[in-house]
This record gives sequence, C-alpha cells and structure tokens, in this order.
Amino acid sequence: MILAQTAVRNVGVVIFAIVIVGFILYLFFNLLDSKGEGGAEIELAANRKPYFDDEILETRKLDQSLMSGLVLLSVIGIALPLYWLGEPGRQEGYVENTIELWTEEGAESFEASCSSCHGGGGAGGIAAFAITDQGSGEFVASVDWVAPSLTSALTRFTEEEITYTLNFGRNGVMPAWGAPGGGPLTEQQIEIIIVYLRSVQKDADAVQAAVQDGLVEGARLEWVSRDEDLSEQLREANFGLAQASQTGQGSLIEEAQAELSEVQKTIGELFPAEDMAAWLAEISDPSHAEYLTYGELLFTNRADAGAYGCARCHTAGWSYDGANDLSIDGEPLSTITDEDGNEVPGHVQGGGWFGPNLTNGSTKKQFPDSDAMIDFIRRGSVNGERYGTAGQGGGQMPGFSQRVDDDILEEVFDEELGEFIEVEKVWPASLTEEQIAAIVAYERSL
Ligand code: HEC
Ligand code: HEC
Repeated sequence: MILAQTAVRNVGVVIFAIVIVGFILYLFFNLLDSKGEGGAEIELAANRKPYFDDEILETRKLDQSLMSGLVLLSVIGIALPLYWLGEPGRQEGYVENTIELWTEEGAESFEASCSSCHGGGGAGGIAAFAITDQGSGEFVASVDWVAPSLTSALTRFTEEEITYTLNFGRNGVMPAWGAPGGGPLTEQQIEIIIVYLRSVQKDADAVQAAVQDGLVEGARLEWVSRDEDLSEQLREANFGLAQASQTGQGSLIEEAQAELSEVQKTIGELFPAEDMAAWLAEISDPSHAEYLTYGELLFTNRADAGAYGCARCHTAGWSYDGANDLSIDGEPLSTITDEDGNEVPGHVQGGGWFGPNLTNGSTKKQFPDSDAMIDFIRRGSVNGERYGTAGQGGGQMPGFSQRVDDDILEEVFDEELGEFIEVEKVWPASLTEEQIAAIVAYERSL
C-alpha cells in the first residue's frame, strides 16, 4: 500500500513538472516570437502578415486543430473516470499507511511515556507511589502500585473510555496525559498511542492462558494460607525483604531475596502447577462446595498485573499489596484513617475503592436478578447510562466479555465466498461465561 501511495505521488510530481516546464517553454518561445520587431506596424502587425491560404487552412490546419481537440477530450473522458474509480483504493491506502505510521510513532511515545510503569509493550508493571493519610494528608509510606497490563485493555474499554483515562489519569497514581486533564500530550498524540495499543493486544488463546496462569498462582497461595507454618514462613520472608529494601543495602536485600526464593521453591514443590490446575477444574463446577473460592480466585487474579481481576478496583489496598498488612513499613494498613478520622478497615475483599463496595449484599440490591448482573459485568458500564436499580455508569467499570468495535474493519478470508471480506473487529473476552458466572456467585455471597 505504501508502494501504491508513492507511485501515485510520483505520477503527480511528474505531471506537475511537465506542466511547469511546458509553461516555461511557452513563455520562452512567446517572448522570442515577440522580439525582432523593427519595421512599420503597418507591415509587421500580426493581422497584416500573410497567413496560410484557404486550402491549407481548410485541410491540414483544420485537421490538426480537430485532432488535438479530440485528444484532449479523450484524456478528460477516460482519465477522469479512471482517476475517480481509483479514489477509494487511494483513500484506503492512505488510511492503512497512516495506521502503520501511527503504530510506529505510538510505539515510540509509549516507550517514552508509559513503559516505565506499564512495562515494555504494555505487559504490565509497577508504579512508585506515596500513600498519604486521607485525613491529615501526611506521608504514610512509599509503595509499589500495580500498573495493569494494557495488552487486553481494548477488549474491556472502548477507545473513547481509554482516551478519558489517558486525558485525566486515574486515582492520582496514573498521571493525566491529555490536555483536558492538564497533561502534556495533544489529542492526536493520545490517539496515536491508542492506535499503537491495538497492535499489542493479545489474542483469545493468550488471554485465557494468562487468566489460567493467574488462577494457578492464586490457587497455590490459597493452599499456602491453609497451612499455618507455611503461611508464617512466607509472611516472614516477605516482611524480611520489605525491611531489607527499606535499608537500601544491596547485600541485605540479596540475602532476603534468597530467603524468599527458598520459601517459594518449597511452595512450588508442595503445590505443583498440574495439581493446582486439576483442583481448579474441580472447584469450577457450580455444584462443588468450593465453587465460591473459584470465584474469589478470579476476583483477585494477579495475572498481567491484575488486568483480568476485579480486586484492583473494588478492594482498597490490593494494588499495593496492602493485603499483606506487614508490607508497609511493618505498619498494618488499618492505621490509615479516612477523612472523618475513622480507621480504614485494612483489606476487605470487595470492600470498595475506585469501584463501589460490593459487600453486605449490596450487589443483590443493585441487581435483584443475577442474570442482569452477569450482563452488566459482560458489557461494563457506559458513561451517562444507568444500570441496575440505582447505578449511574461512568464508563469506568470494564466489560469482561468480548467487544465488537465497528470503527475498525478487518479483512478476513471467507471460505464460502472464496474471497476476502471486511468484518468488524472483535476483541477477545477477558473472561469466559463460566468464569463470569463464578465471580457473580462469589460477589453475591459477600
Ligand atoms: C507513573 C506511572 C504510570 C505512567 C507513566 C502511566 N501509567 Fe497508566 N496507569 C498507572 C497505574 C498505577 C494504573 C492503575 C491505576 C489504578 O489502580 O487506579 C494505570 C492505569 C492505566 C489505564 C487503565 C487500564 C485498566 O485496565 O484499568 C490505562 C489505559 C493506562 N494506564 C494507560 C497509560 C498510557 C497509555 C500511558 C502513557 C501515556 C500511561 N498509562 C502512563 C500508572 C502509570
Ligand atoms: C478499572 C476498575 C474496575 C475493575 C477492574 C472492575 N470494576 Fe467493577 N466497577 C468499577 C466502577 C468505577 C464501577 C461503578 C460504575 C462506573 O463508575 O462506571 C463498578 C461497578 C461495579 C458493579 C456495580 C456495583 C454497584 O453497586 O453499583 C459491580 C457488580 C462490579 N463493578 C463488578 C465487577 C467485577 C465482577 C469485576 C471483575 C470481573 C470488576 N467489577 C472489575 C470499576 C472496576
């Protein structure tokens, strides 16, 4: 397409050059013609000079004029419709060319502005953040805040919703990038980054594989939590590393890391991935006694920096491991107080944060019918649209089922027709229907 583009441009340049050169030649000969005057006007005036006689005028000269008229007419008659016919192809070429250029440009600005927190290629990472007391505004602790992977963001949010997040940032941890939020990027620079994001989105298999990896990791921690000794060992090793990190001494940090790795190795051996996968398959059956645990593991899934889970928005502290109440300087999270001076109740799963509190049966009130709740989680909220019995959507609750984007057309080969056809882009689901049902069952039990 780029080739076709440059070919069209070259032809244009050549035609332009011919016209310019022709015009200069015309001017030149015209000027030459007008030189050499010197006699009386009565002899030299153009209308006094002898001209072709009638015979030549009516045959050769007339034929010549008619012929050049005909040639011009054919050029206009054939070339214009041909040009017009080629126009859609040229426009498509233009769009494709722009998208390719934007993808490259977007990759560069992503690496420059976003990858420090979201990881290279948007794979997910961490952002350094200072927690302050909500009441006094005093510094509490520096934490590593999970910055979700963006490699499946376009399935959970529309490009408009992502633009909103980029414009205004989120929760103070994700900075505002767009001019409307006081950020440094123009509207087009934001658009270019989003076009780049399209190119790093995972396919359906990769998404499901990541969700499963996160579930296996969660299952392991669930089994650790059922063993008091092991939990204590892991907690101490984590705390040791947190303490060592505060000292900033390389040797101490290395030692603590080695200790933690040792504990993790033991855990890996005790709970191998195959066993965890088999257990998950068992409890994913709605009639299993631990079905709700399956829902909880989906809710807290850490894969791809929490991208597929719910806890990062619905559980305070989850994003910076506030769940482990020894992780902040050894101070339990519950010493943080809110605006009214009340203690913030540590880590309450689903207790609400950026997204509403989902505990105390509140989801049953919002959605008396669980099918309606499933539907809401499949599609997410829409800005300005009401949901449930009293919900007001802000467009920030992601949709976890697949998303069709009718602005993006893709060429796919149609086996039946035997030709390429254009279809709307379908971004793969983050969660399967069964997984969404399990999360809903879990939430409704909170
Ligand atoms: C200083 C670190 C930091 C930088 C730089 C940063 N982000 Fe973020 N971003 C975050 C964090 C942390 C979150 C999650 C916020 C939360 O937990 O509410 C986030 C959230 C997001 C989200 C919402 C994703 C979701 O699934 O909820 C998008 C989209 C996003 N960032 C895109 C970008 C892009 C594009 C850039 C570059 C222009 C960027 N971010 C730069 C830290 C950062
Ligand atoms: C990126 C942050 C984010 C993530 C991730 C997220 N939510 Fe939400 N959720 C919200 C926000 C924000 C709302 C409120 C609606 C709005 O502002 O659009 C909400 C609303 C809800 C509600 C309605 C609650 C009420 O009482 O109104 C339910 C139920 C819900 N989310 C469930 C989930 C589930 C289940 C998941 C995981 C599969 C999830 N959420 C993941 C941000 C999030």
